[in-house]
Amino acid sequence: MGILDKHKVLEKNVTLLAIFSFLVVTIGGIVQIAPLFWLENTIEDVEGMRPYTPLELAGRDIYIREGCYVCHSQMIRPMRDEVERYGHYSLAAESKYDHPHQWGSKRTGPDLARVGGRYSDEWHVDHLRDPQSVVPESIMPKYGYLEDQRIDGEYMEDLLATHKLVGVPYTNEMVENASADFRAQADPDSDYDGLLERYGEEIQIRNFDGAAGISEADALIAYLQMLGTLVDFSTFNPVASR
Ligand code: HEC
Repeated sequence: MGILDKHKVLEKNVTLLAIFSFLVVTIGGIVQIAPLFWLENTIEDVEGMRPYTPLELAGRDIYIREGCYVCHSQMIRPMRDEVERYGHYSLAAESKYDHPHQWGSKRTGPDLARVGGRYSDEWHVDHLRDPQSVVPESIMPKYGYLEDQRIDGEYMEDLLATHKLVGVPYTNEMVENASADFRAQADPDSDYDGLLERYGEEIQIRNFDGAAGISEADALIAYLQMLGTLVDFSTFNPVASR
């Protein structure tokens, strides 16, 4: 039987064809995927990356709950139009503490990967309350109710412990102090030395929504204002970090 005849047997027997297709795809998959588990530069280490603070993590949960990712991506592709509009393209390391990542797949609104620091807190409060008040042509829904919904930080220990379980390098100290750190970041009059010690001097500590108490808007704005700001791209050298 020539090779062509042998191939005809495969083509006519759907079970055999399925088995052989599966084998071929498996080999291809192993060749492509397996090395990533051993290569050290699969996710390059980049200076500045740190796990989210409890307040930012709570904000991220609200971002997910409200479905912001349905209209917003958080991944800048390395193409000129994107880089000119949004800033430095996203690095894999920038979402290494994201469970799940928020890359998204649709841009009804702009990419948010580098929105941190682009607007003031007041802008975000106004924009969340009534997007059309600051961007008249906006079709973004109103999220004013987030200002009225308080969060007590009591579940923060559990939240951090869960992320620790899936590989985010939270220390025991971070987990134990999660509720205190959560409250400290939203209150500039608090004793926030511990928070800075645990997460770094760059942490933004403010009353984000400008109102008393900690609201969901506080957490969400803390998260938005941090997005894309951790890596200092004025000194980042993609070759050196390899
Ligand atoms: C129905 C789609 C939609 C949803 C859902 C949505 N947005 Fe938007 N968003 C937009 C559009 C469109 C714009 C551009 C116009 C504007 O600035 O309002 C925008 C703009 C923004 C901007 C300004 C970005 C920039 O660079 O100018 C931020 C920040 C933002 N959205 C945050 C959020 C957050 C946080 C949520 C979830 C609470 C959310 N959006 C949900 C559509 C959406």
